Amino acid sequence: MSQLSTRHLIGIKFLKPEDIQLIFETADKFKEVLNRPIKKVPSLRDVTIANLFFENSTRTRISFELAEKRLSADVVNFSASSSSVKKGETLLDTVNNILAMKVDLVVMRHPAPGAHIFLSKHIDANIINAGDGTHEHPTQALLDAYSMREKLGDLRGKKIVIFGDILHSRVALSNIFCLNKLGAKVKVCGPPTLIPKYIHRIGAEVEYDVNKALAWCDVANVLRIQLERQDIKYFPSLREYSRSFGINKKLLDRVDKPIYIMHPGPINRGVELTSDVADSKQSIILQQVENGVAIRMAVLYLLAEKRSHNS
Ligand code: CP
Repeated sequence: MSQLSTRHLIGIKFLKPEDIQLIFETADKFKEVLNRPIKKVPSLRDVTIANLFFENSTRTRISFELAEKRLSADVVNFSASSSSVKKGETLLDTVNNILAMKVDLVVMRHPAPGAHIFLSKHIDANIINAGDGTHEHPTQALLDAYSMREKLGDLRGKKIVIFGDILHSRVALSNIFCLNKLGAKVKVCGPPTLIPKYIHRIGAEVEYDVNKALAWCDVANVLRIQLERQDIKYFPSLREYSRSFGINKKLLDRVDKPIYIMHPGPINRGVELTSDVADSKQSIILQQVENGVAIRMAVLYLLAEKRSHNS
């Protein structure tokens, strides 16, 4: 397979396992480029990309912009907080005005789940989802799985636990879809109030005991408690959450095998993860960030290639 089966990256749900393998193989090549003294290639010269961020971001936004610049694309950045969205402009009007300036690819983060699906029905540009509410964050799941693959090799049969606030997490959903497509075994661990009832149906088992979950897994992917998405109290206090479900050195010392610690960021230090774990040798959190650029270069390159074949 040399081309993606899809013209947008809206969710991992819509990718085939072969698409994911193609993205990984392409990312391997771009990772090699990123380790050269001159980190830039001309692959996306004459391609214009708009980064539309309707919600805050540090890692994803910088990572996409850097990936685009490494590929020599022309880049425009849009932030809702300083735009005419504040004057009441609709999503479609905003995007159509940007596209009128001849944009080829749109990278968008939006708080509304499904915003990208809506947009894909109305515009010609190829769309990449950089996070839509509690729905999906496909490039995060791809960079997570790519980082696991780098450490563990083929992910078939490997055991991954996703800890924390599963209910409000687009990262959890995209990770579960991605890891299942790659043949890994997935469990989630967190307070019952933060684990959706449908989780078994999408391919993840539940383990409420943190010690058992850590003893079982090869990788612990620890998620942030998303207080900004919680309209009611799901647990008594952050202190109580940390005592019951936070990952700390004492818990890891009880596990008699090496496991990798991951976190998509931003970290609530001392809540879901203590600093001695986040900054330990077991942690591959900054390697995830590094791999994010190669993965996003691969996605941008493959979608632009698909666009040029179809035009
Ligand atoms: N992991 C992630 O999406 O981080 P940002 O919100 O900083 O982009």
